[in-house]
Amino acid sequence: MGVALRKGFAEYSPIIDLLVKTRKKVKPVLIGGDPGLTPILRWAGSKKKLLPILLDQALGECSGVYHEPFVGSGALFLQMKAKKAVLSDLNPHLMQAYKQVKNHPEAVWEMLSKMPSNIEFYYSLRQVNWITLNSIERAARFVYLNRFCFNGVYRTNLNGDFNVARGDGHLGIPSWDIFKAFANRLKKASLVEADFGVSIDKAVKGDFIYIDPPYVDLTKRNRGEYGLGSFGAEDISRLARAANQASKRGAKIMLSYRHSDELISLFKGWNVRSFDVQRTVSCDIAKRHAAKEILLTNY
Ligand SMILES: C[S@@+](CC[C@H](N)C(=O)[O-])C[C@H]1O[C@@H](n2cnc3c(N)ncnc32)[C@H](O)[C@@H]1O
Repeated sequence: MGVALRKGFAEYSPIIDLLVKTRKKVKPVLIGGDPGLTPILRWAGSKKKLLPILLDQALGECSGVYHEPFVGSGALFLQMKAKKAVLSDLNPHLMQAYKQVKNHPEAVWEMLSKMPSNIEFYYSLRQVNWITLNSIERAARFVYLNRFCFNGVYRTNLNGDFNVARGDGHLGIPSWDIFKAFANRLKKASLVEADFGVSIDKAVKGDFIYIDPPYVDLTKRNRGEYGLGSFGAEDISRLARAANQASKRGAKIMLSYRHSDELISLFKGWNVRSFDVQRTVSCDIAKRHAAKEILLTNY
């Protein structure tokens, strides 16, 4: 198994070493879904549950480019029939993993599908320093840790090391059908690791932008969800400026966020719709209450 997985990488690989040690002890678990419509990641803040509302309000036809500057798991992108897309996110590990999935789906899935589902393997893999891995191994490690971590949260310590505990419940990796279909959808997309401003500033008339930023909570310490310092209160006005300028250039835009009068006041003349949603990121079940969300559109 080790030799087959290396595919030309002669150097020592800590992942192959781990796989050889745990071989046959615990089987991997494969998870199904609708190929082409199912994301390969479980992403905290994913809009999977809001899809009916988002699809109802999203621009049906887009003659230009579909932009998703906070792409995460890309739940809405998969539902949209855009001919051209620019998917971007500030998380470099996420975007690097997507690039490998797009260009080498078989190799990433071959490695991923050999990874067992037990707790010991999760923590051993989490401990492996990603710097020591080749690109395929990094992508497989990223997807595995995301699939088995607590609620699909991406959080790092001050050194930038992923430090989310393993989750529980029915966890597994996406089946090959899902993986392959997702990779095929990525073929039409440009993948960019960048701040939201880069993608929004490029949008022009005929383009559609779906903006789904992290929710800033000024009452809580930033615990590094989505990476330390990735999006804070000061970014809200920067985002509003970029979106309003793209709107003036003729791009059609939809933005989802938690209810915030401050945010609404920055989007003068936009349509605002409110709805309730069940929050699931908290590990405290008692705190998983319904929360008010908003959807802003400039059309
Ligand atoms: C709410 S999640 C998006 C979820 C996505 N819509 C989905 O359905 O999975 C917010 C995303 O913003 C990304 N992010 C945080 N700060 C950013 C920034 N300054 N520029 C671009 N992306 C950023 C995070 O990495 C995260 O993937």
